[in-house]
Amino acid sequence: MRQMIIAGNWKMNGTVPETEALLKALVDGDSRSGRARVVVCPPFTSLYTADGILKGTHIALGAQDVSAKEKGAYTSEVSVAMLLTVGVQYVILGHSEKRQYHAESDRLVNEKAKLVIGNGLTPIICVGETLEQREKGLTEKVVGEQVDGTLSGFSADFLGKSVIAYEPVWAIGTGKTATPQMAQEVHAFIRNRVAGIDPKAAENLPILYGGSVKPDNAKGLLEQADIDGALVGGASLKADDFIAIIKAA
Ligand code: PGA
Repeated sequence: MRQMIIAGNWKMNGTVPETEALLKALVDGDSRSGRARVVVCPPFTSLYTADGILKGTHIALGAQDVSAKEKGAYTSEVSVAMLLTVGVQYVILGHSEKRQYHAESDRLVNEKAKLVIGNGLTPIICVGETLEQREKGLTEKVVGEQVDGTLSGFSADFLGKSVIAYEPVWAIGTGKTATPQMAQEVHAFIRNRVAGIDPKAAENLPILYGGSVKPDNAKGLLEQADIDGALVGGASLKADDFIAIIKAA
C-alpha cells in the first residue's frame, strides 16, 4: 500500500504571525486523515516557528528548497544541516517556479535530491510540462526526460525514500486543473518510467498531483489509481480549504 500524502506548498506566503495563525487553525481543526500524511512547507523564515507548533502533532514539516552545497561561502543559500535543526522532514525540489525563475536544471535537482536523501530527508521532486509542450504532444517526452534526469543514478533504496509530484505548469495557480483522467495517464506513465530503475520501488512510490487542487476537485483526482496525494499551493493557505482537501484523501 502506497503512502498517501497531502502537502501544502505555501510558496512566498506566510510571515511568522501568519504562519502561527494558519498552523494553529490546522492543529486545532479537524486536519487528521485516516489515510494521508499531512505535510506543510512554509517559507524558510517560518520553519523554526512552525517546528515549535507542529512538534508532536500529526503534521510534518517540509521546506521549499535546499542548497546543493553542504556549507560555506554561498550567500543566501540554506543547507540540509540547517533544515535538520528546525525539524524539516520533506524538501520540495525542482518546482516549476524554481525551474522558470532560477534556471534550476534536472541535474541540479538530482544533486540536491541525493544530498537530501543521504541526510535522511524525503525529497518531493516536481516534474511537469508547459502548455506549449502539451499542445505539441510533447508531454511524455518532457516529463520522461525530467524523471530520468532528476532520478539519475538512483538505487531502488533511494527511490524508496523519494516522492514525485506531477505538476503540469499550465495548471499551477491558473485555476485550470488537469482532468482526473489526464492526470492519471501521466502518473501511470511516470510510474512505468520509474519501473525501469526498480519495479517494486516504482509500485511503492508516492506520486502526487499538483496544479490548482481545490476542495471541489480533490476527490476526483485522489480517486485515480496512480494518484497518491496532492501538492497544494493556493488552497493550502486557507485552513478550511486545506482541511477539505485532506478529508478528500
Ligand atoms: P496551486 O500550486 O495549487 O496554487 O496551483 C501548486 C504548486 O505550485 O505546487
